[in-house]
Amino acid sequence: MRIGFLLVAATVLAAHGPVRAQDIAAGEKSFNKCRACHQVGETAKSVAGPKLNGLFGRKAGSIAEFKYSEANKNSGVTWDEAYFAKYIKDPKAAIPGTKMVFPGIKDDAEIANLTAFLKQFDADGKRK
Ligand code: HEC
Repeated sequence: MRIGFLLVAATVLAAHGPVRAQDIAAGEKSFNKCRACHQVGETAKSVAGPKLNGLFGRKAGSIAEFKYSEANKNSGVTWDEAYFAKYIKDPKAAIPGTKMVFPGIKDDAEIANLTAFLKQFDADGKRK
């Protein structure tokens, strides 16, 4: 019982505490779920999905070389942590009509780690 509570507390702290190297490493591992369609980094290209450099603060549908769905382009979303978390949990619920076919990640700690990993990359794909 008590150990269960401590585990929950530790998970919550891991999700909301300062960014740690191990969170970024875990996020990089989680990004393997995205690599079939997305690239990030200095040599990143838009492939099946748009490149994810400089994602946070970026407007949805703004990578010129990528052909987005109307749903994404017209969503009016500016990617921040809260909207990213909502989208990654269930893309089709967050942006109905999105052409991203992905079942979603339900685990908040995993989403936080993925966020920490992606946040490293500026618009040129350089690590900040
Ligand atoms: C099967 C391919 C596929 C997988 C796997 C996938 N995506 Fe996507 N993603 C797409 C496509 C296609 C779009 C464009 C959506 C649209 O235009 O409606 C997209 C769009 C996005 C966007 C919006 C970007 C923008 O410029 O508006 C984000 C953020 C995103 N994906 C993150 C992720 C993350 C993080 C993962 C892994 C957890 C992931 N995706 C997994 C195909 C995929």
